[in-house]
Amino acid sequence: MDKQPEYIRLRIGGFTVIENEVLNSIHARRSTRNFQERQIEPECLETLLNAAIWAPSGGNNQTWLFTAIQNKGILLKLNELVREGFQHWVPDDDYPGKLGAKAASQRESYNFYYHAPTLVIASNRLDYENAMADCALGLENLFLAAQSLGLGSCYINQLHWLRGDSGVREALFELGIPKKHTICSAAAIGYIGKESTPPPRKEGTIRIIK
Ligand SMILES: Cc1cc2nc3c(=O)[nH]c(=O)nc-3n(C[C@H](O)[C@H](O)[C@H](O)COP(=O)(O)O)c2cc1C
Repeated sequence: MDKQPEYIRLRIGGFTVIENEVLNSIHARRSTRNFQERQIEPECLETLLNAAIWAPSGGNNQTWLFTAIQNKGILLKLNELVREGFQHWVPDDDYPGKLGAKAASQRESYNFYYHAPTLVIASNRLDYENAMADCALGLENLFLAAQSLGLGSCYINQLHWLRGDSGVREALFELGIPKKHTICSAAAIGYIGKESTPPPRKEGTIRIIK
């Protein structure tokens, strides 16, 4: 019988967990909200996008589209459109994140992607029920790959909330995102400016039934 690999084990939140390179990226990844100005290397971007498309997808549809924007002018223009969009956007529920983002967008200094040098927009077919799930799995692959390359990343919801805003949609259409796509999510990516504090994990969210 093959010799079992020697695993490093850690105690996390009352559980014994194995640590290896992949698990280390899972544990160490944080949502970065403060980025350095310098752009990420082309091969890093290509690696991240490639990691995204190796995620599972419902029925192996792979109908997602990951659009990376690295042009500062285009990103700033998109930020202006998001600020404008929020002015006449009525949230469909009282989720604090939505209300907070709408209020914050009034400030001149507001930047929905935290001035990250790279923004990846995940879109998918409108009429596909796994659109959000597939894009979320793709982005999580991208986040973990970013962590493994020493890059920071953050899930960005604003373009999803404003997916019906005509100004935002027109700009995204000009960038090649089809009108038959819904905007599922986005990822801000760059070198970390300031490390984020790990938010503690809530207790009671894991059950094991034997
Ligand atoms: C569906 C979803 C939407 C999110 N939207 C945003 C967002 O718009 N802006 C933001 O700064 N963080 C956003 N986040 C990041 C969460 O705030 C973050 O994952 C959480 O606070 C835990 O922190 P951690 O990622 O460092 O573990 C989002 C995360 C998820 C899963």
